[in-house]
Order: sequence, then structure tokens, then C-alpha cells
Amino acid sequence: MLKFQYCFLAILLFCCFVNSTNYDWSPVDKILQEAIDDKAFPGCTVLIASEEGILHESGYGHFTYGVPPPQNPNTNPKTELSTIFDLASLSKVVSTTSCVMQFYQRGELDLHMPLIDSSLLGPEFDNNDKNKITSWNLLTHTAGFPPDPDPLYDSKDFGCPATSQYTPPEEFTCQSKIWDSLMKQTLQYKTGEKFVYSDLSMITMMQIVGKLAKDYGYITYDQLMGDCAVGNKEDSKELYQCYYEAYARNYVFQKMKMSETGFRPPKALWNRCAPCENDTWYRHEVLQGHVHDENCYAYGGISGHAGVFSKIEDLYLLMNKLMFTTENDPFINSTTVKHFVTIQDAAFSSRALGWDTNYNSIYTACGSLSKKETYCHTGFTGGSLCNDRVRKLIVILLTNRVYPTRKNLKVLAVRNKLATQVQQIFDNN
Ligand SMILES: *[C@@H]1O[C@H](CO)[C@@H](O)[C@H](O)[C@H]1NC(C)=O
Ligand SMILES: *[C@@H]1O[C@H](CO)[C@@H](O)[C@H](O)[C@H]1NC(C)=O
Repeated sequence: MLKFQYCFLAILLFCCFVNSTNYDWSPVDKILQEAIDDKAFPGCTVLIASEEGILHESGYGHFTYGVPPPQNPNTNPKTELSTIFDLASLSKVVSTTSCVMQFYQRGELDLHMPLIDSSLLGPEFDNNDKNKITSWNLLTHTAGFPPDPDPLYDSKDFGCPATSQYTPPEEFTCQSKIWDSLMKQTLQYKTGEKFVYSDLSMITMMQIVGKLAKDYGYITYDQLMGDCAVGNKEDSKELYQCYYEAYARNYVFQKMKMSETGFRPPKALWNRCAPCENDTWYRHEVLQGHVHDENCYAYGGISGHAGVFSKIEDLYLLMNKLMFTTENDPFINSTTVKHFVTIQDAAFSSRALGWDTNYNSIYTACGSLSKKETYCHTGFTGGSLCNDRVRKLIVILLTNRVYPTRKNLKVLAVRNKLATQVQQIFDNN
């Protein structure tokens, strides 16, 4: 009898202290396994977390639907928590916006200062009606830019030196051409008139981060990625791209101990990268380790709108910091987070600063999580980030839905279904 009582007590204590074991996440596993069976994507990883820490994390499926990917010629690996994904537009928030938040927090960037100011891009940018554009416009996608560079950086018309090759290398030989075209960029709308999600916004934002990183002395020339700075003089504006990369690497990824996050992953990691599209028109290969986004690739693999590779537990470190940071945190404090994740004008668009929200977003991926109070973003390659500030709930999904073709859009429904299911399990506990 005494033994039985001790046992009972032990179980009671166990249940009290290991709270998260109360959740039954099997419906989540089922949604993701069914999505794979339905060929929404070959594989994915998911991570769900709250104040209690990580509640559930897992990998599902494989790198491909069967054919071994190029970097794993003898096998089709299982998709695991350690799998590295091409983040595509998640780079806009994970990297670019995090950098901007830091400069803002330290009072080194006035979001409402026109970019033509000499402390930012200067008179070179002052043409084709771009004199009113501010960082705030870039972060809310209201600068008036068209959605994409035109012509696209990878197009024959644009004429990057590498593009003439059948399998163009991912290199930095187009830096000056891209810088010039960005400075001369024309507008499709008047600044502030309309929300148009544009990669040009974040490509421009990256230049500002690079300039500030250099001017405030956070990054010196010797810290630049060797390939990026090749053949360019130290004071060349084209190198803002490289200063941006070095800043993100040193002040965001390394500070957050995101050990396998960055631009241009080293070759040693390629066999752990989920393969992307079978590109039959530009690079003529199944992408695995090289960035999928063509504009980013033509630019050398570093950009403000795409290019970051990461694994799910690295992303958790950042999302968890943003959710639970304090007022005194020099990395990014709670006042700064609030400023950047607050919807700016709900009648106008769903956007916060850099971040989107779950309030009628056209890129919705957070299902029934809180509306204005969830900040989020999606990536073209198939990932999504949702931070619900009311529930203090983090939902991260990474997929390689673009394998073998971008035409597969089934992930759109899966992302919302997943978030809604997570909300229900969480609330019913
Ligand atoms: C990629 O596309 C080429 C050309 O259509 C085709 O021959 C090849 O089998 C495809 N590879 C994969 C892995 O889908
Ligand atoms: C937190 O960031 C804000 C800007 O968002 C800044 O004004 C404030 O000084 C920072 N707080 C501390 C304690 O440094």
C-alpha cells in the first residue's frame, strides 16, 4: 500500500512538472504526413513553442519524392530537424529586418529620413521621383516600386556577365550593374500611394544596412566575405552588399548562436540542404546549396530579399528572442519589437515594419492564430513564421515545396491548416 502511494505521488509530480506532455500533437503530425502523401512538398520540419519552451518539433518525409538529389547521389535522405532550408523571403525578416531593428534601437537610423539624404543613399538615388522614399516606405512596401526588378537580374536583357554561360556560377561579377540599376530604378506608383510587395524594397534596405554598418564602424573591410569584396575598392558603394552580409553574420546570426544560418552555405553543408527547383532555363540544375531565387543568385547569393539558409532550431532562437525579449536587451529590446510588429494602417494593408501580420494578409499562413497580434512572414520556397503575441505561441514550418517545380502551390492551404490546428490544440489544453 505504501509503495502504491509513492508511485501515485511520483506520477502526480511528473504531471505537474512536465506540463507540456499534456498536449497531444498527433493531429499536427497527421496534417504534415498527409501533405507529404499528397505531394504538397517532399519533406518538412515543424517547431511549436510557447513560454514553456519547445512543445513539439519534428521532421517529416524526405529530400525528394524518390530520385536522389544531386548532393546525395546514392540516397534520398530523410528530412530531419538538422535539415537546412533555403529561406527565400523569410530572409527579409530573419536577416534584413533584424539588422534594421538594431540600427533603429540604437538611434542610428531615422525610419522617416528620405533615402536621398547623404547619410543614406545620397543624391545618386535622387532621380525618377524617388526623392520621397524613406526606410519606412521600404519596410511597408509602399515605396512605389514594381514587385520585381525589370528586367530581372538573371535575364539576358539585364546582362550580368555570368548569364551568358549555360550554367552561370553564383558569383559577384554583377555587383556594379545591379547597384547602378537600383540607383536608376523607376517607380510604378507614387511613393506612399499603394502597398505592392516588392523585392526591390528589401534589396534597397540591404544597401542602407550595409552603409550604416560601414559608417558606424560595426564592420571593417577585413571582415567582408572574401568572394564578395573581390576586385572592389574599399570605399566602393557596391560593397554595401558585403557589409550587410558581414553585419547580419556578426550581429544577428552569431549573437543568437544560429550556428548554421547564413548566406552562401559552405559546400560541406550542401548535402544537408533540402533541394529546391529543377531549374531548366537559367542554371540548368536541381538547386541544392545554391540559392533558388534568381535575382539573389545573379547578385552572388547575398541580398536583402532572399539568400539566407537556416535550420529550424536556429530560427527558433531568433523567434523566441523576439517573443520574450526584455526592455534592457541590447540585441533587440521589447519596445523595438513592438514598434516593428505593430500593423501600421489596417485600412491600408496588413503590414507591420518588415514583418507582415495575420490581419487579412494576402500571404496568410497563420490560420486562426490572432489576427493583428500575430506577426508573420512566408517564403517562396515554402516556409512560414508565425509569432502569436496573445498566446505567446511560436509556429515555424519549413518545406521545400518548390521541388521539383515552383508550380506546386499546395503548401498555401497546408500552412494555414497547420496553424489553425496548433491554435486549437494549444487553446484546448
Ligand atoms: C530536371 O529536368 C530535366 C529536363 O526536363 C529532366 O531531364 C530531369 O529528369 C529533371 N530532373 C529531376 C530530378 O526532376
Ligand atoms: C529600447 O529600444 C528603444 C527603441 O525602440 C530605445 O529608445 C530604448 O532606449 C531601448 N531601451 C533601452 C533600455 O535601451
